[in-house]
Amino acid sequence: MITNTEIERRGNLLPNHIVDFKQDNDKLYFTTQNGVILELTVLRDSAIRFRYATEHAFEPDFSYAISDDASKGYNELEVTDEIPEYVVTTSKIKVYINKTNLKIQITDLDDMVINQDEAGFHWEENYDYGGNIVKMTKVTQSAESFYGMGDKASHTNLKGKRVNNWATDSYAYGKDQEPLYKSIPFYVGLHNEAAYGIFFDNSFSTYFDFAHERRNVTSFWADGGEMNYYFFYGPKISQVVEAYTDLTGVPELPPLWALGFHQSKWSYYPEKKVKKIASTFRDLKIPCDAIYLDIDYMEGFRCFTWNNRRFPNPKKMIDELYEDGFKTVTMIDPGIKIDRDYWVYKQAMDNGYFCRRADGPHFKGKVWPGECKFPDFTNPEVREWWAGLYKEMIAEMGVHGVWNDMNEPAVMEVPTKTANLDVRHDYDGHPCSHRKAHNVYGMQMVRATFDGIKKFTFPKRPFVLTRAGYSGTQRYCATWTGDNVATWEHLWIANVQMQRMCMSGYSFVGSDIGGFAEQPNGELFARWIQMGVFHPFCRVHSSGDHGDQEPWSFGDEVTDITRKFIELRYQLLPYLYTMFYKYVKEGIPMLQSLVYYDQEDTQTHFRTDEFLFGEQILVCPVQEANAKGRRMYLPKGKWYNYWTEEVVEGGVEKWVSADIDKIPLFIKEGAVIPKYPVQQYVGEKEITELRLDIYYKEGVETSTVYEDQQEGYDYKKGRFSLRKFRQRGKTNELIMQQFKDGSYVTTYETFKLHFHGLPFKIDSIEVDNEMVDLKSINFDGNNSIEVSKDFTELHIFGK
Ligand code: GLC
Repeated sequence: MITNTEIERRGNLLPNHIVDFKQDNDKLYFTTQNGVILELTVLRDSAIRFRYATEHAFEPDFSYAISDDASKGYNELEVTDEIPEYVVTTSKIKVYINKTNLKIQITDLDDMVINQDEAGFHWEENYDYGGNIVKMTKVTQSAESFYGMGDKASHTNLKGKRVNNWATDSYAYGKDQEPLYKSIPFYVGLHNEAAYGIFFDNSFSTYFDFAHERRNVTSFWADGGEMNYYFFYGPKISQVVEAYTDLTGVPELPPLWALGFHQSKWSYYPEKKVKKIASTFRDLKIPCDAIYLDIDYMEGFRCFTWNNRRFPNPKKMIDELYEDGFKTVTMIDPGIKIDRDYWVYKQAMDNGYFCRRADGPHFKGKVWPGECKFPDFTNPEVREWWAGLYKEMIAEMGVHGVWNDMNEPAVMEVPTKTANLDVRHDYDGHPCSHRKAHNVYGMQMVRATFDGIKKFTFPKRPFVLTRAGYSGTQRYCATWTGDNVATWEHLWIANVQMQRMCMSGYSFVGSDIGGFAEQPNGELFARWIQMGVFHPFCRVHSSGDHGDQEPWSFGDEVTDITRKFIELRYQLLPYLYTMFYKYVKEGIPMLQSLVYYDQEDTQTHFRTDEFLFGEQILVCPVQEANAKGRRMYLPKGKWYNYWTEEVVEGGVEKWVSADIDKIPLFIKEGAVIPKYPVQQYVGEKEITELRLDIYYKEGVETSTVYEDQQEGYDYKKGRFSLRKFRQRGKTNELIMQQFKDGSYVTTYETFKLHFHGLPFKIDSIEVDNEMVDLKSINFDGNNSIEVSKDFTELHIFGK
């Protein structure tokens, strides 16, 4: 433990003893003799906000991260004045506030320490900019592990690492490279079987040190702003992640096509080429829902314009593509070309929408079009203007979705890769410099984009994709992990990044499948596609410089493998959509790292490769060349090997065969997995039957299937179909009950049930308490039947 004198010797200041305590409902104020105020807010029984002011005063309370829909309210709050501390007790935790130094200790109700200040809050005055560098140090508990933090390209468990949040354009980043595109200052700590979370809501450059510099200390600090963090107690990781997600928000349900397969490249042009790519998908019968236009569709890289030589009639092209099932997604960047004849530039100039340097001139930077100026998206008036710019593109041309890129913001040819730090921002009426606004710049850009796309797409649902983001950006859009590389190491990185993002409240995420820079060989592409179809956002994208990267670019074998896995994704769409529904409804991450799935099993704490796709499908990508399979850890419970139907007992690491046309894939026993037929794009076929794959389990397991119109907002008025299937297996019988909610009437009338692993031969079947003639339900003599979608209870009896 470091002493206060040592901390002071290093130029820091610390709070001293408490001289005043006040309570205002859920807010408690502790003031020290040297002018520090701790504002402690009890948000929920296991969620507390800690905010520190120096010099007796807080800044106005404002954050872009917090969702308007965040839950509030607790059951119990008691404050007692004891020696040597104040004790705040809720129905879940106790917070001790030391009277002599303002240090915090948080315990559960049995006094087990969950989180504890080491030096606690301290600060250093910032002579260059004013304000403070605010710091917090905590004691690292024994065997503590750390997860979360957004897109870090590091081991899932961050113990021993130091990371930095400062949105950065990071072309061809390497493993452990810091910082990357996103800033999500949220982590989960796990020790003694209990998890908690800390969200440091500060948009300046932030740093987290997870027992890296000092083995027993975990710290976080920011270049400015306030020490302002939220603490969430679990004890389960899932509770922590759900609480953070509840606070920072979830997206709306996307249109179902957004969960299909997407094909992109920098750049598909001219029109003829785009159409050729599209028709090749259909000719080769590889399902695909969206095709992307990168910057080259624009006239001289001017946003909201079209290059008429390359795309003489964009509306016609977009319509024709749409008739064939393709949605067109176009790119929009933040940099606006300096060109007095360009209407977007003129409007922004006339209205004063561009960011200015501290002393008045506009901030200028080079991006694709050359010298650009940058709208200040932290100004609500600018956001409204920006949203309106999408009118022609969406409402008139018919573009279906937009990706916002370079919105860190990225600036070329300068060592800092971004805006000058003195650039001024409105920050929604809290004027500040770029030091504070940098990390939210991209978020405010996509927020404006989302508003525009939503308005002009209505009554359909918008689709927006971003590269940069701060906590809460998940409310507006999907995201991808930027410019990765076609290497095996990057396949590993993509795998951990997806899990980490999902653990950080941001589930709608994908990587550039196959790698953006360089070109993968067929084997790497095949292995990446096998993993990518299990990521929430599934898109092949690559730079124009390194050769083709369409599914058919690597020979017939790889084309067939790619088709097979994309088809599997399309079959699993109702399962995937249900995952999304659960994410939106309950904050459950769409992918779960093994530690999330079973934190009590310490074997899971350092696993990186295996993950749960939803709650019932276990995936483990093959991450090296020439492999015929791999060793992997199966969490506790029984699992069906998807390919062989062999049932495996978990809690062990084992060899799993997976030649180039397979990926290790397991289904949790008891699961009911819904499937649609293969379609070339969402909506190609009317679904006339829902297939349910039922994996027998001795005991009980519940599964959910959520469906709605796949578009539009009727689901918000109750027009959805939510089915819960409760399966109970016995030695000689399987009982399946259905519970239904919602008023959406699905297009199909029947379920096709496929039983897996029944320990008996089917002898007779009862539907809703009546024995049925097996022929009348199309029993295939083995393990499949058809029943009405309205059944409430099935009994399958064995011989
Ligand atoms: C950035 C993006 C990449 C895009 C390129 C050209 O590098 O990350 O996806 O293709 O810019 O717009």
